[in-house]
Amino acid sequence: MAKLLVEKSGPLKGTVKIKGAKNSVLKLMAASILADDSCTIESVPELLDVEVMATLLESLGLKVDYNRETEVIETYPAEDLKCEAPYDLIQKMRASFLVLGPLLAKKGIAKVSMPGGCAIGARPIDLHLKGFQALGAEVTLGHGYIEAKAEHGLVGSEIYLDFPSVGATENIMMAATMAKGQTLIQNAAKEPEIIDLANFLNEMGANVKGAGTDTIRINGVTSLKGAKHQTIPDRIIAATYMVAAAITKGDITIENVVSSHVKPVTAKLREMGVTVEDEDDRIRVYTDGPLKAVDVTTLPYPGFPTDAQAQFMALLAISEGTSVISETVFENRFRHVAEINRMGANVKIEGHSAVIQGVESLQGAQVKATDLRAGAALVLAGLVAEGITEIDEIYHIDRGYPQIEKDIVSLGGKIKRVEI
Ligand code: EPZ
Repeated sequence: MAKLLVEKSGPLKGTVKIKGAKNSVLKLMAASILADDSCTIESVPELLDVEVMATLLESLGLKVDYNRETEVIETYPAEDLKCEAPYDLIQKMRASFLVLGPLLAKKGIAKVSMPGGCAIGARPIDLHLKGFQALGAEVTLGHGYIEAKAEHGLVGSEIYLDFPSVGATENIMMAATMAKGQTLIQNAAKEPEIIDLANFLNEMGANVKGAGTDTIRINGVTSLKGAKHQTIPDRIIAATYMVAAAITKGDITIENVVSSHVKPVTAKLREMGVTVEDEDDRIRVYTDGPLKAVDVTTLPYPGFPTDAQAQFMALLAISEGTSVISETVFENRFRHVAEINRMGANVKIEGHSAVIQGVESLQGAQVKATDLRAGAALVLAGLVAEGITEIDEIYHIDRGYPQIEKDIVSLGGKIKRVEI
């Protein structure tokens, strides 16, 4: 079983280049199902989740060429597109559920295993299904599978999302690209990954307007061609290294980042007294002063990202004063609290909030990653904790961070992967 050993390290200093966004590339890959010819996706990060999505596309009949050196994926349409996504692949990765919309649009039928919940919450799919039904699909649940059918094709409709769900927005947007007439998605998610997907769909010949706002208008087309697209940088990995600079009182320059995508993190770090110098595609974060406690509330974009909540908790754990983190996006995204408290932090959960009393220092301990961002938070905590931190279940981290050890070692951090 692989583990990460992290030692107390000095201030991290240097430059790190951000790779393509996991939470965009998986959807771009799913969208390639819609294309009548080959697609090229660039800046594909080497991640377990990308491997799973590639395997899923191949199981549906597409041909996938994945060049890990050049970080490029080529997909070629299936001669005989299957309509069923198997249980074992959906269970490995929830994002597999995002093939349902494209399959429904392309084939008029899709059978996808229901995604399970996970560490951070039940993660229902009711909004996805509400959208497909609004587009005229007949949706049935049975034996753990969702089956969606629209034998005469989908018909555009108005859909209001009760919550600006990223996945539901993406799944419905992809399904609507080939529906007859116009679809309006209201209260849509506004994350940068939604815009990236809409841009790719439009490059394929779709007609999607308003991505990035709360109302997305899709005029259906009869077919989509192949396209070439470069994935946007991963804003959550960028946020993780911004926190790494603050927590170790170092000086890190982050390259290939879209600064506007991490504005809430920049604002909070500045409130804590950390210096953040941001240009369009580069951010320098440094500090040598005290870290002031601040309150954080996670919200859908453009609010503070829930995917940076755990990393920020590690930082607030050693800040001066009392902070409150309110997690409004997922109902159970505090499983890292028990782990960080094992390292000497003083965090108390009160409903959807965590009250953090800053402590002088943390102690290295044996801990385990409970989800990919919690795992990253424990790495950050380990970099400043006295002694050695042994992190177990690091497959979570590998799902979202292509080369966390390499990056941290290049910044002067002491971290290594061991098989125990
Ligand atoms: C995406 O998940 C991301 N994953 C998550 O990143 C991210 O945390 C999340 O968006 C929010 O930004 C990918 O893009 C692969 P949601 P998704 O649908 O689409 C509720 C990471 O660390 N909801 O916006 O599943 C749901 O229960 C991962 O990289 C419904 O109620 O998120 C949750 O409380 C973790 N019904 C809230 O919406 C639905 O039908 C947000 O979920 C769908 C969602």
